[in-house]
Amino acid sequence: MLEPLLIQSGQGAYRVEFAAGGVAALAARLAGMGFSGVVADRRVAGMYPDALAPLLGAVPVLLADATEEEKTLAGSAKVLEFMQANQFSRQSRLLAVGGGIIGDMASFAAHVYHRGIRWEFVPTTLLAMSDSCIGAKCCLNFNRHKNQVGAFHAPSAVWIAPEFLDTLSDNDIRSGYGEIVKLSLTGPAVFFEEVRGALERGGLRNPELPGLIRKGLRVKQAIIEQDEYEAGPRRILNYGHTFGHVLETLSGYGIPHGLAVAWGVDLANWIAVKKGLLPEAEYAGIHAFVARHFPVSYSRPVTARGLVAGAARDKKAAGGSVSLVLPAASGELRIVPTALDGALEEILDAYLTTQCGQPAARGSR
Ligand SMILES: NC(=O)c1ccc[n+]([C@@H]2O[C@H](COP(=O)([O-])OP(=O)(O)OC[C@H]3O[C@@H](n4cnc5c(N)ncnc54)[C@H](O)[C@@H]3O)[C@@H](O)[C@H]2O)c1
Ligand SMILES: [Zn+2]
Repeated sequence: MLEPLLIQSGQGAYRVEFAAGGVAALAARLAGMGFSGVVADRRVAGMYPDALAPLLGAVPVLLADATEEEKTLAGSAKVLEFMQANQFSRQSRLLAVGGGIIGDMASFAAHVYHRGIRWEFVPTTLLAMSDSCIGAKCCLNFNRHKNQVGAFHAPSAVWIAPEFLDTLSDNDIRSGYGEIVKLSLTGPAVFFEEVRGALERGGLRNPELPGLIRKGLRVKQAIIEQDEYEAGPRRILNYGHTFGHVLETLSGYGIPHGLAVAWGVDLANWIAVKKGLLPEAEYAGIHAFVARHFPVSYSRPVTARGLVAGAARDKKAAGGSVSLVLPAASGELRIVPTALDGALEEILDAYLTTQCGQPAARGSR
């Protein structure tokens, strides 16, 4: 069994445990831990009725839909109503079981209920296991804008049962890998080679995956422990995210977050080559890997103009410029203010024209 992690946080240190014995054993253990209630992904609860029965039969349960439409103040209000109806006090502990959407909704509700109660998390998607379960961020969509409202509210514990991944769709597995790839390129150089090797040897559901989850969390841990509230160094975790968010939006959220991030990383690398920061050969090796393992298609073609216009709406954009996280040859990531102008549009157009045949960011049909 993988060693637990202990994440240091200004809100209290918390453990990330890798559960032994699968989903049923974890559910039986959690059932005896005195949670005041559980918010569970409705789909996950339906897929694991027997394994989760000891837990979901023991405490009040709210089943929630994991959709971006529910990841709003209205969706979180349902969690608040659930807690109020079940007489949660300041001492109560809420357990969330699901992916990043359930984690965001439950943690936001836990943050504001009685000015903050404890919450714990059983992530059930690869993205949530390898990335969003630590770092304390909770974000809700507001007025159809993604992740506009949020807070920092660390969990008190995280329980990972990789067996949940058996039922996750291939596209959601790829989405989780997108974040792992980002973390691998943020951490020690060998980590990316390990991710590439594992995928190439064993495919998406390879036996090395639990170890890769832990390694990804270790990279993120080192960064968030230095800068939990994103005053400085944590900004490098936005690598791949400026254009990743644009691609997600352009796809009408048809492309899951982490998969868009993989292409956002590729685009950032291309821009770094054009700015003379990254040697072309380094870009090319990663590009070939992304193109092979992260196929995407768009109902409408992606254009350079659309990418620049989308980047202008980024949280980090101001005054006609956006802060991009770009890699440099030394293996470090730099924050590079980049003008949202014709020169950037040309760079992006060259990328779409020369790098993205099928299938890739140029769009199919
Ligand atoms: N707070 C953070 O730090 C942070 C970081 C990254 C992403 N996010 C947010 O996370 C969300 C994406 O989360 P996600 O990718 O985990 O997906 P998700 O929660 O949207 O789940 C994806 C789909 O998988 C289903 N599902 C979940 N677990 C399953 C399982 N074990 N078997 C079968 N199906 C399962 C869900 O019902 C859903 O249909 C986005 O809203 C994103 O903004 C938050
Ligand atoms: Zn992300």
